[in-house]
Amino acid sequence: MSDLAAPDDLILLNPGPACTSPGVRAALLRGDLCHREPEFAALLARLRTSITRCLGVPDTHETVLITGSGTAAMETAVIGSVRAGRKLLVVNNGVYGARLLAMAEAHGIETVVVEAPWTTPVDPVAIADRLRSDGHIDAVACVHHETTTGMLNPIAEIGAIVRDHEAVFLVDAISSTAIESPDLAEVGADIICGTANKGLHGIPGVSFLLLSTAKGVDRVAAVPRRSVYLDPAAQLAAQRAGDIPFTPAVQTCYALDEAITEYETAGGYAARVRLYRERAAVVRAGFARLGLPVLIEEPYRANSVTALELPTGVTYPALHDELKHRGYVIYAGQGRLSRTHFRIATMGEIPLPRLVELEGALEESIRHLAKARGE
Ligand SMILES: Cc1ncc(COP(=O)(O)O)c(C=O)c1O
Repeated sequence: MSDLAAPDDLILLNPGPACTSPGVRAALLRGDLCHREPEFAALLARLRTSITRCLGVPDTHETVLITGSGTAAMETAVIGSVRAGRKLLVVNNGVYGARLLAMAEAHGIETVVVEAPWTTPVDPVAIADRLRSDGHIDAVACVHHETTTGMLNPIAEIGAIVRDHEAVFLVDAISSTAIESPDLAEVGADIICGTANKGLHGIPGVSFLLLSTAKGVDRVAAVPRRSVYLDPAAQLAAQRAGDIPFTPAVQTCYALDEAITEYETAGGYAARVRLYRERAAVVRAGFARLGLPVLIEEPYRANSVTALELPTGVTYPALHDELKHRGYVIYAGQGRLSRTHFRIATMGEIPLPRLVELEGALEESIRHLAKARGE
């Protein structure tokens, strides 16, 4: 890609790390702190409580904070969900479902895969059938928002099915927490993966698991220890005692603390879902006027990511550079969609007028590229 000069106030339209508020960035400078001091124990305790509170599961789930990106949370969840000699059922209809599967395979956990096309939410009946026919399935893992395509899987329906079984329900909610409905309280998942730097508008480097007190907490204690660093049972025991086993990303925790305060002050989950719906409506109206086809059918679309077909004759690198020059960082199509599609995410602190202006920037960029091709 070329090195076109870009404005200082770039708007990140990639699905995390997302633009942050001045308050969140300032929180990084709260000062140096040793994680063995009581001040860090207080911060850890506050975060463990505020994360479950702000995501609507304060009485049913417990937080395990993880130093690492969302992928670290996914791997901790996968290896903490399946007892020895049992299997993990994985829904695979996107890059992140495939990642859950690769993690299970890397740790020698036997898997059962329920596949669906990348543009189709998984059918919960297929999961019910597999659970009925295979008594060794110990956990069902599904990505809520497949960021690959901007598509939502029906996690509330799957949650209702898994609830009647001994299996636990593992949800990768990394790109849906605080953004999408249904609310986590409705889903009944037992091991939920989330991250600081998408819907919560924090800084990258910290992620978390939410473990249900009904099943999730007992399950992580019953699995064999498959990793030293990503050991949910050891992390939970230490964090309950106000400790954390390894050096945490202290400053990123400060920033998450501030991000949660700002989120709750702005009205919490309901207000943030409304905001993301409004953003989706604004940008998608522009895409429709420009004649850019959206990959995913309307009822399954996530609020925060839209995968769009590249206009004829336009390559992703060229469109990326044109838009960066106009103040916007867009994101490539993933995997097999990388040559045909691009993605626009509306996560993080983005002033609405900049999303209104995106349509004009896209139109100008596409026109400029057509002119350069001599059309
Ligand atoms: C659904 C989903 N799961 C997992 C991840 C991995 O998160 P990270 O890139 O923070 O490791 C992402 C990142 O975009 C995601 O969208």
